[in-house]
Amino acid sequence: MQEVVLEIVENKPLSSQIYQMVLKGDLTAIKNPDEFVNIKLENFYLRRPFSVADFTDSSLTIIYKVLGEGTKEMTSLPRGTKLNVLIGLGNGFTEFSQHPLLVAGGIGIAPFVKLIKEFNERGIKPTLVYGEQTKDNFVLLDFFKMHTNLYLTTDDGTLGFKGNSVEFLKAHSLEFDKYYACGPMPMLKALTNYSKDGYLSLEARMGCGFGACMGCSIKTINGYKRVCKEGPVFKAEEIIYE
Ligand SMILES: Cc1cc2nc3c(=O)[nH]c(=O)nc-3n(C[C@H](O)[C@H](O)[C@H](O)COP(=O)(O)OP(=O)(O)OC[C@H]3O[C@@H](n4cnc5c(N)ncnc54)[C@H](O)[C@@H]3O)c2cc1C
Ligand code: FES
Repeated sequence: MQEVVLEIVENKPLSSQIYQMVLKGDLTAIKNPDEFVNIKLENFYLRRPFSVADFTDSSLTIIYKVLGEGTKEMTSLPRGTKLNVLIGLGNGFTEFSQHPLLVAGGIGIAPFVKLIKEFNERGIKPTLVYGEQTKDNFVLLDFFKMHTNLYLTTDDGTLGFKGNSVEFLKAHSLEFDKYYACGPMPMLKALTNYSKDGYLSLEARMGCGFGACMGCSIKTINGYKRVCKEGPVFKAEEIIYE
């Protein structure tokens, strides 16, 4: 973990609720897609955690959904704003299979940009099943169309398969060796019931964000583990849903 000061170089809407923020600075402490960073916002006591969507040694991209007061304030931050950020948090995706299936639900799409680039650099075009409530919520579709074999699902049927991503998988039996999934807990639970051959990126309410408070613990077959320290990525077979 490293505490750095980063400067906002871009902060723009991708849809009505989802924004992309690009920050520059020393980002050499970030090693893997879907590590996370913890951002200090003025006027807020607790930091806000966000997945690393993309990164280089000098640039970090996060994709965030406006949810409460903190993320609302983030949308108003102009270019040039300096933010105190903890980086190099969590494990991220560290294993890269030959026939990957990526499953994203809603803002769970965020960590997949860098993961897709990592697969492409290995000569692999991953399959991506990307689910949203309705068609206007999708982001970065041009990028995903170009770099993945893309399937879209919507709850209301306005684009792609009508239903959620797990219902789509059950209907189409796509071939894969490992899946990589990020999205709401009910989606991850349904996916685990469908197959345990994969990795799940979990979210939990966080206190410290770096392993000290146990506030983000989840139950696994190997005892309680901290989402911020041993996660956020876990083997699907490990998780015990309560
Ligand atoms: C490891 C990890 C990665 C995440 N990656 C992303 C991402 O890439 N994009 C994105 O849009 N969101 C992501 N989230 C969720 C994001 O942290 C929350 O949406 C955000 O903190 C909400 O802040 P707020 O002030 O707008 O909402 P409020 O509800 O006002 O927040 C109140 C408090 O609850 C905490 N909180 C609220 N929702 C969550 C949540 N889902 N998880 C953890 N803490 C929460 C906040 O940090 C804050 O301390 C991630 C969460 C975790 C744990
Ligand atoms: S948030 Fe404190 S241990 Fe994870």
